[in-house]
Amino acid sequence: MTSEIVSVIGGKETSNGAAYESVNPARVDEVVARVRLADARAFSSACRTAAGAQREWSRVPAPVRGRVIASIGRLVEANAEELARLVTREIGKPYAEALGEVREIVDTCDFFLGEGRRLYGQTVPSEMPDKNLFTFRVPVGVAAVITAGNFPVAVPSWYLVPALLCGNAVVWKPAEYAAASAHALYRLFVAAGLPDGVLNLVLADGPATFEGLEAALAEGTLHKVGFTGSTEVGRRVGELCGRHLQSPCLELGGKNPMVVMPDADLDLAVEGALFAGFGTAGQRCTSLGTVIVHESVHDEFLRRYERAVAGAAIGDPAGDVLCGPLLDRRFAERYEEYLGWIQPHHTVVSGPTGRITPDNPRGDFTGEGGLYYHPVVVDGVRPGDRLFLEETFGPIVGVTSFGTLDEAVDLANLPSYGLSSSIYTTDPASAFRFREGIGAGMVSVNNSTSGAEAHLPFGGNGKSGNGSRQSGMWVLDQFTRWQAMNWDHSGRLQKAQMDVAEIVPDLDFRL
Ligand code: UN1
Repeated sequence: MTSEIVSVIGGKETSNGAAYESVNPARVDEVVARVRLADARAFSSACRTAAGAQREWSRVPAPVRGRVIASIGRLVEANAEELARLVTREIGKPYAEALGEVREIVDTCDFFLGEGRRLYGQTVPSEMPDKNLFTFRVPVGVAAVITAGNFPVAVPSWYLVPALLCGNAVVWKPAEYAAASAHALYRLFVAAGLPDGVLNLVLADGPATFEGLEAALAEGTLHKVGFTGSTEVGRRVGELCGRHLQSPCLELGGKNPMVVMPDADLDLAVEGALFAGFGTAGQRCTSLGTVIVHESVHDEFLRRYERAVAGAAIGDPAGDVLCGPLLDRRFAERYEEYLGWIQPHHTVVSGPTGRITPDNPRGDFTGEGGLYYHPVVVDGVRPGDRLFLEETFGPIVGVTSFGTLDEAVDLANLPSYGLSSSIYTTDPASAFRFREGIGAGMVSVNNSTSGAEAHLPFGGNGKSGNGSRQSGMWVLDQFTRWQAMNWDHSGRLQKAQMDVAEIVPDLDFRL
């Protein structure tokens, strides 16, 4: 069944705009949703609407807002299978992973429902008598949340849940190609009792969104931007926000390294490299970029990795597979460009490359008219190669080798992203030396680069982001600002730094 999906601003559906079709990437002739894309004016009008609703929402006591978050969690849990099926159908994520993604929303709600009863401020001693100092967390105001479609419901919840809990109103712009999943999540949030205008859904393309952001920032109806997407667009969003003296929350790309030490459990490392490289068809921002394997175990690792990749199940994401199709046509086209970065000095050890079709099958699997691609392992990548330096969103993993741990750390840092990283070793000293040296925001030991838990700080440095962190208590600093209050009840003007009692020490005293 195909549904028509439109933006919802202040509780009202806005049905004009250009037509767009969200398509099932496992069967590209199947339309999942017909979408109306709003323009820049709709986006900025949504920010105005949100600004109007935010004041009342911020006055709702935080514990009561926490109850709304609790209800969202329960509603998502009760609709988990339905939502996961929709995610699978719309972006081709294997069903088990889609269910995990939905679980991540529930985990996020479970974490933040209690935050409604904390949102701690501090009482701080004053340097003067009869004076009290306090800090309060205050909501930033209106947040625009712009999300990618590879995690069409979990990653948005990382923004929406804490932003709402903290008393902000939100304008959410999901990826067009994941509009149906976004719309379903929106409806679950609203069913929890959010007042009209507190959460607004705007379906728009990139240029309209950017123009809408510019207008809302200039009007002063937008106070925080959260963006998950490419480094290139993140840079533009960062520049725009910077001009308005705002610092956005940016979650960008990654070229995530996995270091395999000579003492590693190789089978475990292969299992990790298989999941991180080809789970979600390599389309997580935490997906594996390059395996940096010690020269003494390089050949053995590669032999086992090759075998594991050859045996991996690729096919209908509704079934029990490791790897489904790519997200959307646009992503498939871009991925084909990355395949063009394979050079004569590289060795493709995994077999055929490119789209799986009747002419280019993977065993018996001929692609069923979906955007399926052969998994690719490229040995011999070098530090100067684009394949080594740049994110290649899709099922392709590079392999290179190293001699010393310092060399491995330098190679791991070279692409100057800094999202996720991993080391396989049985030596704690290597694990800690890697942690100290790596520039990534997230480090796994004997675990793959992907699959972060929902209550640790998530985010990156360098080309992966501006140091902002999502998830857990750390994201509170994105959606609140500290307000300092001092209250002097002495009845006189006590001047800080000047009217402070002095206790005179004898600094010449010696034992
Ligand atoms: C993303 O790809 O944008 O850590 C997020 C992970 C997931 C989230 C990925 N929990 O791999």
